Amino acid sequence: MVSTHPVEVQPSGNQYLSQRRSVTTSPNQELLPLSAKVNHHDSLEIGGCDVTTLVQQFGSPLYILDEQTLRTACQQYRDTFKQYYKGESQVLYASKAWNCLAVCAIVASEGLGIDVVSGGELYTALEAGVSPEKIYLHGNNKSRDELILAIESGCTIVVDNWYELHTLVEVADRKIGSDSLPTTPPPHHPIRIMLRLTPGIECHTHEYIRTGHLDSKFGFDPNDLEEVFAFVSKQPDLNCVGLHAHIGSQIFERQPHRDLAAVMVQWLRDAAKYNLELTELNVGGGLGIKYIESDDPPSIAEWSKAICEVVQEACAAENLPLPKLLCEPGRSLIATACVTAYTIGSAKTIPDIRTYVTIDGGMSDNPRPITYQSVYRAVVANKMSASLTETVTLAGKHCESGDILIKNAQLPKTEPGDILVVMGTGAYNYSMASNYNRLPRPAAVLVANGEANLILQRESYQDIIRQDCLPERLK
Ligand code: LLP
Repeated sequence: MVSTHPVEVQPSGNQYLSQRRSVTTSPNQELLPLSAKVNHHDSLEIGGCDVTTLVQQFGSPLYILDEQTLRTACQQYRDTFKQYYKGESQVLYASKAWNCLAVCAIVASEGLGIDVVSGGELYTALEAGVSPEKIYLHGNNKSRDELILAIESGCTIVVDNWYELHTLVEVADRKIGSDSLPTTPPPHHPIRIMLRLTPGIECHTHEYIRTGHLDSKFGFDPNDLEEVFAFVSKQPDLNCVGLHAHIGSQIFERQPHRDLAAVMVQWLRDAAKYNLELTELNVGGGLGIKYIESDDPPSIAEWSKAICEVVQEACAAENLPLPKLLCEPGRSLIATACVTAYTIGSAKTIPDIRTYVTIDGGMSDNPRPITYQSVYRAVVANKMSASLTETVTLAGKHCESGDILIKNAQLPKTEPGDILVVMGTGAYNYSMASNYNRLPRPAAVLVANGEANLILQRESYQDIIRQDCLPERLK
């Protein structure tokens, strides 16, 4: 007799492989990188490389960056802005999400510019060959030397506050040159700047990653706007080209960005009163990604289209020419492109309470769970089809009880040596990694078409003590 009961399919790691992947799949709506597959060894493959083999080759833990996913996200942002915006547009990658030579080079090769927030990020972007015309320097307390590096390289400075504005005027007036640098005539004059404003827009995200509400350390108070415009318009050494604002990160709603774009067009209109011809509008980043099944962010195309439409409508209503439109996503460009592979080690079962399964990394390579209570999903790369029969707490190896990567992770039965893969680790993982407990930072590989290239070397113990100094008398 044929059973009328539906066959119950036991969930396994395979559930995270989306069935409907195509060129229009928005990476930020996926859990695994776009190239992820399960091969005939029942092992997870990314960029045509078996994850278990990658770990044997490059060690553990290992960041694995899928080039296809990163390039697809860049192309989707770039092409949607081109498609829906009638004026000029430029997508910038907020490199704070993951700044290193290879990532900067890939993103730039897709035509994106780069947003940097420190001398270190700026230096890396320049070394990666990114054109300075496409680099924008942010920061709420840029040092004089950072400003000078930016001026000398010819990138645009996004001015955050009065102190910075005055410092810039002073630096320009002295025709560049700090104590540490020789005095040279300014190579890029006048200095190209934008103004960052706090838009006063609330959005629902973690308190630490909200930046647009009025009580924020970033940007000029919009109440000072007219005064700032009046000041800037009188500075012959400054060429103010536009306005910038950013409301926060990991945002799923579309309305806050729509409101932001509309408010910014009003500011553009106000600038005209001061004879400031502002031609650029940067709406920041913030589009969220799917870290867990219930996360439902808009696609890259939906988000971009919404911004383009609002700016166009608002400019039409104000009878303003269309500015060059910029945005600067970080997370939604790179988070889904990367997974972190760990090796499973010890386990501890506390009867009737929980089982801890420990991996060989933790808060030093991914500080997001302990910092923001961020949630992640994981699979066991060498057991992709095995049923998820266990509920365990995945613990890091740091001497800190809070070093928990995932609470109540659904996994197959694991044993030491299994390879755990945590998804969505491309943004704010490597870039926020530390050497806590003197753990060397992991290596990172770029995978594409069955090839894996090292993009960040694993730190060694020699690297760990590289900055240490032992005074003679202690030897
Ligand atoms: N532009 C500015 C001025 C920003 O401050 C940020 C992020 C972005 C762009 C990029 O935002 P995204 O597209 O990545 O959301 N460490 C936190 C996130 C901090 C975000 C800081 N600013 C995390 O791990 O969630």
